[in-house]
Amino acid sequence: MIILGIDTSCDDTSVAILENRKILSNIVSSQIKFHSKYGGIVPEIASRKHIEWIWDVTERALNEAKVKLNDVDLISVCHGPGLIGSLLVGLCFAKALSYASHKPLIGVNHLEGHIQAIFLEEKFPEFPFLTLIVSGGHTSLYRVDDFGKYKELGRTRDDAAGEAYDKVAKMLGLGYPGGPVIDALAQNGDVEKFNLPRPYLQGTLDFSFSGLKTAVKVLLRNLGYEEEFPPEEIKRDISAAFQASVVDVLIEKVRWAGAMENLKRVVITGGVAANSELRKRAQMIEDLEVYLPSKSLCTDNAAMIAVAGYHRFLRGEKSDLYLNARAYLPL
Ligand code: KG4
Ligand code: ZN
Repeated sequence: MIILGIDTSCDDTSVAILENRKILSNIVSSQIKFHSKYGGIVPEIASRKHIEWIWDVTERALNEAKVKLNDVDLISVCHGPGLIGSLLVGLCFAKALSYASHKPLIGVNHLEGHIQAIFLEEKFPEFPFLTLIVSGGHTSLYRVDDFGKYKELGRTRDDAAGEAYDKVAKMLGLGYPGGPVIDALAQNGDVEKFNLPRPYLQGTLDFSFSGLKTAVKVLLRNLGYEEEFPPEEIKRDISAAFQASVVDVLIEKVRWAGAMENLKRVVITGGVAANSELRKRAQMIEDLEVYLPSKSLCTDNAAMIAVAGYHRFLRGEKSDLYLNARAYLPL
């Protein structure tokens, strides 16, 4: 079966072609250079760029996969959660393709896509398993009992981990998105130099990262860098301290959740799962077999939407042209 997947939930215009679970193409066209000068995503710019690029990205995906639109058996599109204007571009485009080519359409939740990214890899877990989704918009733990059977165990009460990375990067003058820059700087930083809090929140699998962000702000003020950015060495050391705190909390909560739910396997996914320290530490977790999608499948991409749609379609599901985009869409 040939599946065409589309994701325009945030700032990446992405289209992928799969043959069952095999990736034939997975084009991700990043808009970052249009947003970085604003220090974050500007929703209006994001939807306009999706409109400009979606057809071109689709043609590139089809050409790279050596597939004609007529050969496609299913169109799988992300319809939420995300930026409403951005989602609508991908969804309207998918509906038009489906209507014009008489191909079935299926709507997929973006979070289900992140979870199912692991099924694009050769090695994937048996059910049941635990999932930690860590991205710019979400930090949540789920118990996954089967395709489509997800139980939320905990979530962030304020900022997502990726959001905290991006905000701390902004305070340090590192640009947007902050995750990859802090990741790189932290590798040469002294992790012992500054001690930041670990918001473990005893007795719950929820997360909270906004206090940690404030702690970085207070530290910068105490060091005298309220009005200007600190020198490189301090940027490196703060990056290392901040990253150590985030990773400690994420790893500890995965351990708790695994023990509480008596699960033996965990999938760690979403943009922050591309983080080198988190990947290293995840491999050292005892009692849990850890599954990490490759870095390019952790960050937003359409192949994960295609594979999640494929599994829904195999279970007999289909969407109609009344499918709507939703900024808030629980799994
Ligand atoms: O999953 P994703 O591409 O989009 C959302 O669904 O949000 O995640 C984007 C987030 C951004 O906050 C970005 O800073 C973070 O993932 N990120 C990272 C790394 N690469 C991306 N955070 C930490 N370390 C990284 N290497
Ligand atoms: Zn995402």
